[in-house]
Amino acid sequence: MSAVVSHDTQASSIDDALPVVSLEHGKKSFGTTQVLRDISLSIDKGDVLAIIGPSGGGKSTLLRCLTLLERLDGGALTYGSLTVAQDEGGIAHYGGPAVEHEARNRFGLVFQNFNLFPHYTVLENLCDPQMRVLKRSRQEAEARARELLGRMDLGDKESMVPCELSGGQQQRVAIARALAMDPEVLFFDEPTSALDPELTQGVLRVIRDLANESMTMAIVTHEMTFARDVADRVMFMDGGTIIEQGPASQVIDHPTQQRTRDFLASY
Ligand SMILES: Nc1ncnc2c1ncn2[C@@H]1O[C@H](COP(=O)(O)OP(=O)(O)OP(=O)(O)O)[C@@H](O)[C@H]1O
Ligand SMILES: [Mg+2]
Repeated sequence: MSAVVSHDTQASSIDDALPVVSLEHGKKSFGTTQVLRDISLSIDKGDVLAIIGPSGGGKSTLLRCLTLLERLDGGALTYGSLTVAQDEGGIAHYGGPAVEHEARNRFGLVFQNFNLFPHYTVLENLCDPQMRVLKRSRQEAEARARELLGRMDLGDKESMVPCELSGGQQQRVAIARALAMDPEVLFFDEPTSALDPELTQGVLRVIRDLANESMTMAIVTHEMTFARDVADRVMFMDGGTIIEQGPASQVIDHPTQQRTRDFLASY
């Protein structure tokens, strides 16, 4: 059986040497509240980045800016060689709808609350975006969907609708749906925080398998053991800034900053 992760993505070979995604000096405010103060990060192909930090620190806003659900006020955002926004005099200038459309084909996003289409079957949830966005035939879309559902232990669930599944199963469908689009990078925003501990383990296992297959991922998580075991790098955010980042075992086991130590002490 072929791998869950398709490395045959749309990026050209010149993109292979560049970070999959890069943000420089990202800034974002809501009204007078500065939520992202000056965030720079880049994620290379095959990298797994875990983003941790206290509530309100700006983690979701960062992911929302990276995935174009929010607009940066300032900063530069690129996907490979594709410039999505460039900074001119401290203001982020976006490249326009065609560029944003191309960028959206490069990433997948998995939220806390699954966001499946409630009236579609599991199979249709996976097939509809493939046919609509990637213009795959129904036959191609179903083949890819079934391959992924099989790998997620959901092979017998394709005719069910989301409310007939457990939360953990729904989240695995959401991950399969994102993977069906062959993204270059997957973003997760607290993928297990709505699940009980047992269902959490099933979802974490799937993400761990993806990491082993070198899927490029950025994961906002409160699961510190998971972050240490699965991530290559951990980034600790608080108050809209990156307080500390580095190899996962270093940041989690030997943080250099007092704020990181205080945060981790609560786990
Ligand atoms: N659409 C919005 N309008 C106004 N303020 C917002 C909006 N979205 C986020 N904020 C504010 O931005 C700050 C950062 O929120 P964000 O959701 O990014 O934090 P977080 O690190 O993801 O927290 P949590 O761990 O609780 O999910 C918070 O103070 C929040 O109230
Ligand atoms: Mg959040």
